[in-house]
Amino acid sequence: MVEPIRWGILATGGIASTFVEDLALLDDCRVTAVASRSAERAAAFAKKYDIPHALDSVQALAASDEVDIVYVATPHSHHYLPTLRLLEAGKHVLCEKAFAYNAAQARTMFDVAREHQRFLMEAMWTRCNPAIREMRRAIKEGMIGEVVSVNGNFSFGGGDLPPSHRLRNPELAGGALLDLGVYPVTLAHLALGVPESVSAVAVMDEVTGVDAQTAITLKYPKAVAQLSCSYRGGPGNEVVIAGTEGRIELRDYAYRPSGYTLVRYDGPSREFEAPYVGHGYVHEALEVHRALRQGRLESTLVPPQSTIEVMEILDEVRAQIGLRYPGETHPKQS
Ligand SMILES: NC(=O)c1ccc[n+]([C@@H]2O[C@H](COP(=O)([O-])OP(=O)(O)OC[C@H]3O[C@@H](n4cnc5c(N)ncnc54)[C@H](OP(=O)(O)O)[C@@H]3O)[C@@H](O)[C@H]2O)c1
Repeated sequence: MVEPIRWGILATGGIASTFVEDLALLDDCRVTAVASRSAERAAAFAKKYDIPHALDSVQALAASDEVDIVYVATPHSHHYLPTLRLLEAGKHVLCEKAFAYNAAQARTMFDVAREHQRFLMEAMWTRCNPAIREMRRAIKEGMIGEVVSVNGNFSFGGGDLPPSHRLRNPELAGGALLDLGVYPVTLAHLALGVPESVSAVAVMDEVTGVDAQTAITLKYPKAVAQLSCSYRGGPGNEVVIAGTEGRIELRDYAYRPSGYTLVRYDGPSREFEAPYVGHGYVHEALEVHRALRQGRLESTLVPPQSTIEVMEILDEVRAQIGLRYPGETHPKQS
């Protein structure tokens, strides 16, 4: 019988709950602690999910002997410093997207993880999704020929979100780009790698000043990615990756697909099914468990370099659309 991996959870918001529900589907781990800014919220969360330790700070979680790895589920603005404190205290960390404000912070986070010999991974669940993994294999095997384009959108009508909501609030590193745009950029990076140039335009939130709607073009030597994100309405959540011989259409919610359609220009289309488990977060948890059990400090499905390269693209977009967060002099500085 293997020792269960002991998870700590930082924050008690929406995604923290969803992730804990998915961890409950796995039999080789336990959630042993939750930490919140508020002792009451930690206690309520612990009671709801039957978690033995409710803590009232990052420091208490970092000091806990009951935890091997912490899932950081705070807003983007509160990823960097808590992750550093947890790594320094000897915890492994799975940190939500957008991983940090910028690539400079992301590099520091991975440097500190290496220095302390701890595992650190961006919680980019899309890269761990079974259909996406299968799609990567199909692309690698040439099923659509040479990739020529990625078209990806992530948008919804968020007209009723209050200005304080993390999507709109600059103090929480809000904006469509870091929250939503990170997904189509990640899929373009997954299919095509680092672009030779980036261009972007945005419509800014009239009240809070963050980007409400952003369009991005990534230019590669022999391909183009056209991506968009928005919380003021838009085309939805589709992604199509096209090549010289065919294209892949990601179904349903493209960032957690349950399969895809392979369209060959010279023949019939084929449907591939690759269902996800639970809410879809089980697969990133399994990737963490595999790495920890094998003594690896880096994920192979979400490697540090891909996180940093995606953050570099987001930095360049922010530089072009003029989006700086409080305290930042430039998106490319930490
Ligand atoms: N992978 C995914 O599919 C996915 C989905 C949704 C969100 N996310 C990411 O997960 C992170 C959290 O998103 P969420 O939807 O869970 O947000 P949320 O519902 O607003 O919860 C965020 C939690 O962070 C804690 N927090 C700490 N400092 C905070 C501050 N200054 N202001 C507000 N909250 C603070 C709060 O918990 P306490 O009050 O207990 O401290 C709060 O409940 C974001 O980075 C987001 O991009 C990922």
